Amino acid sequence: MLRSANLTPFVDALPIPAVARPNAAGHLRIPMREIHAKVHRDLPPTRFWAYGDSVPGPLIEARSGQPLHVDWVNQLPAKHFLPVDFSLHGCGHDIPEVRACVHLHGARTPSKDDGQPEDWFVPGRSRSSTYPLQQDAATLWYHDHAMGLNRLNIYAGLFGMAIVRDKTEDALGLPAGKYEIPLTIFDRNFTADGQLYYPDSGDPDHPWVSEFAGDAILFNGKIRPYFEVEPRLYRFRVLNAANSRFFNLSLTGGQPFHQIGTDQGLLPSPLELKQLLLAPAERADLLIDFSHSAGQNMHLVSGLLDILQFRVAPATSSHNHPVSLPSSLRPVPRIPESSATLTRTITLNEHLDRYGNSMIMVLNRKRWHEPVTELPRLNSTEIWEFVNLTEDTHPMHLHLVRFQVLDRRVFDVFGYENGKGLRYLQDAVPPAPNELGWKDVVACPPGIVTRIIVRFEGYTGKYLYHCHILEHEANDMMRPFEVVA
Ligand code: C2O
Ligand code: CU
Ligand code: CU
Repeated sequence: MLRSANLTPFVDALPIPAVARPNAAGHLRIPMREIHAKVHRDLPPTRFWAYGDSVPGPLIEARSGQPLHVDWVNQLPAKHFLPVDFSLHGCGHDIPEVRACVHLHGARTPSKDDGQPEDWFVPGRSRSSTYPLQQDAATLWYHDHAMGLNRLNIYAGLFGMAIVRDKTEDALGLPAGKYEIPLTIFDRNFTADGQLYYPDSGDPDHPWVSEFAGDAILFNGKIRPYFEVEPRLYRFRVLNAANSRFFNLSLTGGQPFHQIGTDQGLLPSPLELKQLLLAPAERADLLIDFSHSAGQNMHLVSGLLDILQFRVAPATSSHNHPVSLPSSLRPVPRIPESSATLTRTITLNEHLDRYGNSMIMVLNRKRWHEPVTELPRLNSTEIWEFVNLTEDTHPMHLHLVRFQVLDRRVFDVFGYENGKGLRYLQDAVPPAPNELGWKDVVACPPGIVTRIIVRFEGYTGKYLYHCHILEHEANDMMRPFEVVA
């Protein structure tokens, strides 16, 4: 195993993904294929599975309300190069080993084009999906969602960012063009010769592991790169595309920065932060002002590790752009709790798997293939309370919808498990200020009830909700829901 701390940091420039802009008819064609790409100056090229030519894949640029049609073409090899667990649900030896399916995370998409776990297709086949994008400007991402396999397919490189823009956002005059940077962050393990390494349980029949934390941190596909900036304001679209890892990001010297958007678009107003915790699949839209750091280096830090170096150019007169942050961005009216017609209690549980090897995680003590139990009505509003009985934080995601976080509240786990019902031990804590925008992922900490409020807008049909720790999702922390008329 490679120890990435032994690699010289900040020797590779931050790659900026190519832009995939749909043609006049709104069409795009994106192949999936095996590529070899250098993740660091001193390592040989790494085998990846990519959308297009890079990991992450091309940045899809789309407009709100303008339908996007993508032909996803599976040109992957017929054998996987990572440890497939054939005993996982939906992963048998009786079906093709390599399967792919693409979900546009955060998009309001009709069920048939949503890219759901069982809608996979094999190498040699393709799938056309239409995304109406009747939704506000936001940072979305596309990633593999094949049943039981997406933890490996995403690990192999099958993910990319998509940006939806609209007029409200255009009018704000935020940094654009070369001053607006997609920043996808993820962790990987590498072998000494620079190849992806994904751990297994040691049991060849059941290689699934319950979590993954990689030794190397990558930005847009490079380990600890540098990025040359001008001494001015930049906009960064940050995405945590890691399988399991949470990133706690800050700038050296306690430099403040501003968050202007969450998973599903703009916050009501810019929020000054010194630290940003990003769970798997969460997005943050950030503004960083380099105008006071001309001629210096600044680092982005996660925990104790410097992971990205900003090299700020010396000041010149042409850099004298006054920094102005818009004081308000986009109203996010709070959904009144009284508008909810139903509260659903969803427990997050763990128990030993049927081989007695490891803990598996489930929702409501049910597995994926059991009948649908959540059937919200179209255009109705519901409160979902996630009762976390485990010792992990689970980032819960719902397809189709955007939601608001209501609160979090410590409860008596032991009492709950012994039939005493929900007994709260403390007052409810309101969401963090940077959770006051529209969300599609919410961190649910252990021993806490996390409540969200959701309006089921858009389409009827089958969807799903799941923990976005990909290892949990695969075994079997994922359940269907169906929006009914
Ligand atoms: Cu990123 Cu089922 O989603
Ligand atoms: Cu999704
Ligand atoms: Cu989880």
